[in-house]
Amino acid sequence: MSYFQIPLEIIKRKIIDKHEKAYKGNYKLFDYEKSTNIKTITNEFGETLTRVDGEIPVDLEIENGQRFLFISYDQSKYSHGLHKYPAKFFPELPRWLIKKYSEKNDIILDPFSGSATTNVEALLNRRHSVGIDVDPFSRFLAKVKTTFINEPELKNCIDDVLNEIIKYKPAFVNKRELPTFPYRDNWFNSEILSELAFIKKIIKKVNYEINISNFLKICFSSIIRAVSNADNNCTRTVVRKKLNKNIFPSMALTKFAEVIITNSLRMYEFSKNIPRNIIVEFPEDNDARKIKYPDEYFSLTLTSPPYVNAVDYPRTHQLEIYWLEFANGSLTELKRKHIGTESVKVEDYKLLHKIGVKEADKKIENIFKKDSRRAFIAYKFLKDMEENLKEVYRTLKIGGKYILVVGNNSIRGEIFESWLYLMKIAENIGYKINSYFGSEIINHFIKVPREERINTDWVIILEK
Ligand SMILES: C[S@@+](CC[C@H](N)C(=O)[O-])C[C@H]1O[C@@H](n2cnc3c(N)ncnc32)[C@H](O)[C@@H]1O
Repeated sequence: MSYFQIPLEIIKRKIIDKHEKAYKGNYKLFDYEKSTNIKTITNEFGETLTRVDGEIPVDLEIENGQRFLFISYDQSKYSHGLHKYPAKFFPELPRWLIKKYSEKNDIILDPFSGSATTNVEALLNRRHSVGIDVDPFSRFLAKVKTTFINEPELKNCIDDVLNEIIKYKPAFVNKRELPTFPYRDNWFNSEILSELAFIKKIIKKVNYEINISNFLKICFSSIIRAVSNADNNCTRTVVRKKLNKNIFPSMALTKFAEVIITNSLRMYEFSKNIPRNIIVEFPEDNDARKIKYPDEYFSLTLTSPPYVNAVDYPRTHQLEIYWLEFANGSLTELKRKHIGTESVKVEDYKLLHKIGVKEADKKIENIFKKDSRRAFIAYKFLKDMEENLKEVYRTLKIGGKYILVVGNNSIRGEIFESWLYLMKIAENIGYKINSYFGSEIINHFIKVPREERINTDWVIILEK
């Protein structure tokens, strides 16, 4: 008799039922592709948009400045659905751009690869790819999402893990086995701490090949926010008393059981659909401002850089970072590596800095009058992106495209139009502007804070 009644058979049956129904088309475990539907619509502000449902046709015509509303159905398909990640691409967008602007076996770069949506799509569409990200958690997630998994091997592993889970007793976890990190006991109830530590022990104990144990670690990571006391739907990790979050004993174990079954179905589908001779790399010692690859190496570069001053990635994933042992204390050093970071030094923002683009400098000056720190953050973002644009220019083949998906935001009441400023900076470097269009944002997994709401992403297509 197990200590907590964890109804594994019920969990398994529930998930398998969902899956079977998904195949019959009357239940969505994964969001399956629908046939494309394109129409012109008017939004609540009376603006005209082109609405594209599902797969985006490769030959879709684009006019400069046109605004689209893309409706995505594939956000949890394949390995895309393994883990939440703020401001991630919906897969149809990079899939479309990869097919339109590259050939099979080309090498594609995403210099801000995040959760590797570009790399997953490149792989599924038979292009080699490189993903650069300064965040170790992102690189770990990216690796799992792009790695083949042997189905019979994973099935055995999941059976073993489930059999271990039902044996759980709190006495199995010694206090000394709990990880130490700042404010640990505020983030987690004691029962949950013990269950999470037990899951970590199981992952070590079952001892399958590294790809499988990494997959289990990502499943483990994907439940951490939900079983913590922090708000599930905020980019910052914060406890909100008002939410009255209902966390109960056995919740971590049950969620983990559910997630490994659901995510394994995603991985089987993914692994069946990827070629085995395509290379995907996530180098550790690169930075979007220092790309350690040769000149004219990539055929296409496709990315969404961080938004200035909107998402603090290390803070979003701090609990996951602690549990996966990427850090156990201060995240300041990691934050400083991030473009768009708010971690800046006082001596840097005493003076007004200029980037050399008239519209941007005017905006930075307006912000400076209200808040010199935020003015410096905005300036530094553009300066860092200038470095990135130069590095991508160097590493792109002649005629290759650099496609950026960039959001605007508001800083101290000033609309900061990053995409316009980046286009000007790009032209100064030598890029030609091929085209640009808007994509309305409706379905990000985690919403960015309300006052910084970003409503339109601008897709800018630059050419070397
Ligand atoms: C908007 S996210 C990318 C999301 C991605 N398109 C996806 O689908 O998941 C931006 C990413 O840039 C990364 N980043 C920030 N500064 C960086 C830098 N200096 N070099 C490389 N990556 C950086 C962040 O860690 C974050 O993962």
